[in-house]
Amino acid sequence: MKGKVEVIIGGQWGDEGKGRVIDEFGDRFDIFARFQGDANAEHTVIVDDKKIVFHLLPSGMLYHGKLCVIGNGVAIDPELLLSEIKELQEKGMDRARLIISRAAHMVMPYHKILDKAQEDFRGKGYRLGTTSIGIGPCYVDKYTRSGLRLEDITNEHKLRSKLEMILEEKNMKLTRLYNQSPIAFDEVFNLTRQWGKELSPYLADTSFEINEAIINGKNVLLEGAQGTLLDIDHGAYPYVTSSSPVAAGGCLGLGIAPKSIDRVLAVVKAYSTRAGEGPMPTEDDSETGSYLRDKGEEYGATTGRPRRCGWLDMVALRYSIRLNGAEAILFNKLDVLTGLDKIKFCTAYEVEGNLYHNFISEVDFLSEAKPIYEEVPGWTEDISECRKFEDLPKAAQNYLRILEEHCKIPFMFIGVGPKRHQSIDMGL
Ligand code: GDP
Ligand code: IMO
Ligand code: MG
Repeated sequence: MKGKVEVIIGGQWGDEGKGRVIDEFGDRFDIFARFQGDANAEHTVIVDDKKIVFHLLPSGMLYHGKLCVIGNGVAIDPELLLSEIKELQEKGMDRARLIISRAAHMVMPYHKILDKAQEDFRGKGYRLGTTSIGIGPCYVDKYTRSGLRLEDITNEHKLRSKLEMILEEKNMKLTRLYNQSPIAFDEVFNLTRQWGKELSPYLADTSFEINEAIINGKNVLLEGAQGTLLDIDHGAYPYVTSSSPVAAGGCLGLGIAPKSIDRVLAVVKAYSTRAGEGPMPTEDDSETGSYLRDKGEEYGATTGRPRRCGWLDMVALRYSIRLNGAEAILFNKLDVLTGLDKIKFCTAYEVEGNLYHNFISEVDFLSEAKPIYEEVPGWTEDISECRKFEDLPKAAQNYLRILEEHCKIPFMFIGVGPKRHQSIDMGL
């Protein structure tokens, strides 16, 4: 019988806690597969007080006997990937087997320089606040057909000729347009050859492997990175990432058919955060924003960059549920709201005197949008030890039920703390 295939995506602007949920689902699936994004992803998992931050490795890596897959849609920074693999090996936590698509594109040293140079070139008013680690320029090369795929590192002759051609163009751009130093061919070529030696054992036809596994009854979890509101097509362009974090991206980024997907799950946190630039209607610059940032520890896991914070935005969330066809919500960070007198959530926007219940993903609209809030009473009890819905204070239960009505889909998981098993399984 066919295995079960589920997709987990970020329902907001990223950092919803996808990593922690996927880690908690370790027993439910045989295969964990990443389908897009790159090192811009930071998925934090906390097990036995050890904190692990995954950038490229799927969050199922900590489970014995599982298969983890990095699909063709991921832009792979080989240096970072190798250091992530090494770190897990050194900690003795590389428990799953890893395979990587030969068709995945590589983030090259020139992509990183270009990412920074392009941000500087855009200037203050037009900066996107990218993670500046080369992901955008890597996907640009993919679509202009001048990218290097992992398959290229297994053929030195082909690699040499492709790289010579690519570097000629990149160096012209770097020196003439961005006033940067040129990149030496030998340096990049030798680095890439070294990556080839170290990564070759992991390379595979991952689309074939996953499809065979599904036919043979294995359960597969597709792990999205970033969030729906950062989608290249459906986010507020240009303040988006360069890939498709929506559920449909799972099919493209792994080479599986839409009809093989059985369920789409959206990870959402109890308030809104956004890293980088771009409109965020419920952003709160006052005490509430600072409270959420401090209590929720809303700082980039590796950069320490503070995230912009505000109340939960149901207009944006309903859009996200629609785009992904999400069938259930995995709701994190409820504990962060403990101690607040009142809890607000945005149910509509006001723009030029008109009320909007539907999200329009245009920068001008979202920049003008004033959030209309509803509010419910908060609670003061510590909820981090609650393991059943009924254990939660009545006010927290009430809040979740109201949100569920707005979402029109059930909540299947509630995070009440960052550690493995600090959660409520709603049994769906
Ligand atoms: P991801 O990118 O979606 O995987 O999310 P991140 O790992 O970047 O950010 C989520 C942060 O929230 C991490 O530091 C998690 O440890 C933490 N976290 C996740 N769920 C919960 C929760 O239910 N409560 C609390 N307090 N923290 C959580
Ligand atoms: P995870 O998987 C939050 C944001 C950047 C920037 C915009 C474009 O951890 O949820 P990029 O480097 O992708 O070209 O930057 O997208 N961004 C994220 N924000 N979580 C992420 O990933 C993100 N990945 C990119 O801050 O605003
Ligand atoms: Mg993150």
